[in-house]
Amino acid sequence: MDRNLALEFVRVTEAAAIAAYAWIGKGDNNAADGAAVDAMRTWFNEIPFSGKVVIGEGSKDEAPELYTGEKIGLGGAPYMDIAVDPLECTNSVAYGRYNATSVIAAGPRGTLLSAPDTYMDKIAVGRKAKKAINLDASVATNIKNVAKALGKKVSDVTVIILERDRHKSLIQEVRKAGARVRLISDGDVAAAIATCMPDSGIDLLLGVGGSTEAVLGGAAVKILGGEMYCRFKPTDAHHANLVKKAGFNTKKIYSTEDLAKGKELMFTATGIIDGPLLPGVLVTNDALITHSVVVRGETSTLRYVTTHHQR
Ligand code: FBP
Repeated sequence: MDRNLALEFVRVTEAAAIAAYAWIGKGDNNAADGAAVDAMRTWFNEIPFSGKVVIGEGSKDEAPELYTGEKIGLGGAPYMDIAVDPLECTNSVAYGRYNATSVIAAGPRGTLLSAPDTYMDKIAVGRKAKKAINLDASVATNIKNVAKALGKKVSDVTVIILERDRHKSLIQEVRKAGARVRLISDGDVAAAIATCMPDSGIDLLLGVGGSTEAVLGGAAVKILGGEMYCRFKPTDAHHANLVKKAGFNTKKIYSTEDLAKGKELMFTATGIIDGPLLPGVLVTNDALITHSVVVRGETSTLRYVTTHHQR
């Protein structure tokens, strides 16, 4: 995939992050999300490519913009699958909490899993520990194996987990195993990717989060040489039906290769509010400063982009 296209996509996540930034702490989820979606779609439609949204804001009848199946871009080659979350962590922005980003994953047509919008059980690690994890192994075994692969003591392993009632016993198990728990109110895309960043202080992601977020995070984890395994975990009959209707099953374990195929992948994120992956938007008297990350599969390059946008 073209290097310049990857940089064009950074401009898209930057625009969405800046649009969402204006809504931090205002208590209005819909306005924050709408602003990010609008900005993302407008900027996508200035880029010469043919994108098909495979993970978006829902189906056509639920979402007027960036719906699953929508065609974006000015047209012509390259022809790509696009997975987006213009505002990953709507609540974090609406209520001024930790960790919010705007994210895009992209690859040639047919490479990104068009997962139904439900939940998945996830485990993710960076490159050094990629052979150490097993979604069916106990929490203690995974932690012990990750510690060994990273050359750390178990007590120095940090496990990031979404703070949810459903994770109460998981959190107890991690503590019992002797590892550290880092709880986040939202944002397991950034959390999964943070496991691949040696200076993030995060070693392992565990727990149940969004399935669309699994594809977004999984694409980046794969490019960065890590691994994520997940399995659909529908919460009720409606969700179970979504999985079944889309032709997936709840027994299969999906690897990063199942979530995002091949090497020609790209992932871009811009921070809105500080999190484990990126700082948020900063405002000075004369500029808005954004912090983004771009990773490209073909070269496994990781770029941090800091941009000063004149006010
Ligand atoms: P949104 O972008 O939809 O706000 O998702 C935030 C998030 O925390 C994801 O990172 C995570 O995968 C999902 O919500 C978990 O869902 P829930 O909040 O229902 O537990």
